[in-house]
Amino acid sequence: MTIDWQSLREAAQLAMTKAYAPYSNFPVGAAALTTTGAIISGCNVENASYGLGLCAECSLVSALTMQNAGKLVAFTCCDKNGNLLMPCGRCRQLLFEHAAPELVLETSSGIKTIAEVLPDAFGPSDLNR
Ligand code: THU
Repeated sequence: MTIDWQSLREAAQLAMTKAYAPYSNFPVGAAALTTTGAIISGCNVENASYGLGLCAECSLVSALTMQNAGKLVAFTCCDKNGNLLMPCGRCRQLLFEHAAPELVLETSSGIKTIAEVLPDAFGPSDLNR
């Protein structure tokens, strides 16, 4: 499947404009190409109970499930200036759960696989041992 990174970046930037981030003033947008060919996106949604804030990746993964959009093939994330942002550790785990084999991510050091950004991951198969 061809990955149009520019379209993904634009989807992440549009999602970022929908962020609800009044506490951190750090809006984030995330977008992914999926195995169905869909582009899905998400934004961070914070809460007055600060620790309950949802990362953009949480919203993206919820959209993936709601839209029956398959698995994640390519992922990018951006900050309020449209600059590339790395997913936090917790969100790497969220992405891993829904990753197609060889999910690739745009990172500050180039395109990397999910295994490179979350090596030796805990995952669903560990529950069956
Ligand atoms: N944030 C994300 O949405 N995704 C990440 O991967 C990194 C952090 C959000 C959480 C919080 O709303 C804001 O960025 C500042 O940490």
